[in-house]
Amino acid sequence: MHNHYAFTKKDFNFTTLIDLDMFGKKKASPQIDKEQLELIENAQKRIRQKKRLYVHFVLFLIGAIFLIVANTVLGIGEDVTLFGKEWFLFAIMLWLFFFLYHLFNVFVTHKFMGKAWEKQQLEKLVAKQQDRIEKIKQGLIKEETVLAKSEVYNETKAKPSVKKRSILTIIAAAAENNAIGKDNQLIWHLSDDLKRFKALTSGHHIIMGRKTFESFPKPLPNRTHVVITRQADYKAPDGVIIVNSLEDAIDASKSDAQPFIIGGGQIYKQAMGIADKIELTRVHESFEADAFFPEIDSNLWKETNNTFHKKDSDNEFEFSFITYERK
Ligand SMILES: NC(=O)c1ccc[n+]([C@@H]2O[C@H](COP(=O)([O-])OP(=O)(O)OC[C@H]3O[C@@H](n4cnc5c(N)ncnc54)[C@H](OP(=O)(O)O)[C@@H]3O)[C@@H](O)[C@H]2O)c1
Repeated sequence: MHNHYAFTKKDFNFTTLIDLDMFGKKKASPQIDKEQLELIENAQKRIRQKKRLYVHFVLFLIGAIFLIVANTVLGIGEDVTLFGKEWFLFAIMLWLFFFLYHLFNVFVTHKFMGKAWEKQQLEKLVAKQQDRIEKIKQGLIKEETVLAKSEVYNETKAKPSVKKRSILTIIAAAAENNAIGKDNQLIWHLSDDLKRFKALTSGHHIIMGRKTFESFPKPLPNRTHVVITRQADYKAPDGVIIVNSLEDAIDASKSDAQPFIIGGGQIYKQAMGIADKIELTRVHESFEADAFFPEIDSNLWKETNNTFHKKDSDNEFEFSFITYERK
């Protein structure tokens, strides 16, 4: 295997050598590096080895014929025999042994320039291949970067045409102490608050906990109800969507540009971290309750609107409509 590579290299370097001779340049030109010179020298050495072997073969043939003629024609040592055979037979056998040893040396023992030289050549070849692999790798990395950049660019370009995510809005009425309900009922009657609730939520998805849903005598008109429960077989009237988590409720409302989270206490608490907006009616009283609205962290929410309402015949308490948006 190694030999194959070595001869290929040798051929290449002979071409270089012939080129040099053609142009009459005896000294190594700058194109020939140290490695090529080494290959040329090795190839020449190899030819000398083979020539010597050829001369040896010719000498052996002539010598053998000479020995046969000396014995049989000229009668030299006619009487000398060994184990009943003529002496020249043993002389030829001995020479043949030396010739075979020479042959073995040239083609087997000193395969081309020896094991060390072959190993060195192989290492050089491996190093070259590794270098090429490294260059190909670098090229691939560059291509990947360009591709990734173009994908990011396309995505960024495509974004304006993609529909913006819904504005998830919490809508609630909470007392000064955050009370929102007791015994699964609202605590107050504020006509203007109910009107506002209807105006804002009509035509939209309204997401609620199972308890809030059950606090209604019947589903509210002109709104898609999404009810969250852990019960696997919860039954509700046709048109009411039943889900098992807040995430699923949001997913079920994704066609809506502004789905509303309408309560109660458990669902408000879970939705505070993901909502974009809060439409709060702050009732300026404190009440005993069993359901509460969570604290609004002023570090996370900024007040963008605040409208005060006095109490009157339709509204038994003072209240304010306050809008919060996530900072
Ligand atoms: N003032 C206001 O603006 C306002 C608005 C709405 C409601 N409220 C009041 O709030 C009170 C009700 O609130 P509440 O906190 O008691 O109940 P809720 O939040 O309305 O509903 C709680 C129920 O929702 C389901 N649920 C909650 N988290 C869930 C989750 N992560 N995965 C699956 N299901 C989940 C459970 O149903 P299952 O038990 O079926 O599994 C749970 O029992 C009532 O008094 C109501 O009048 C007030």
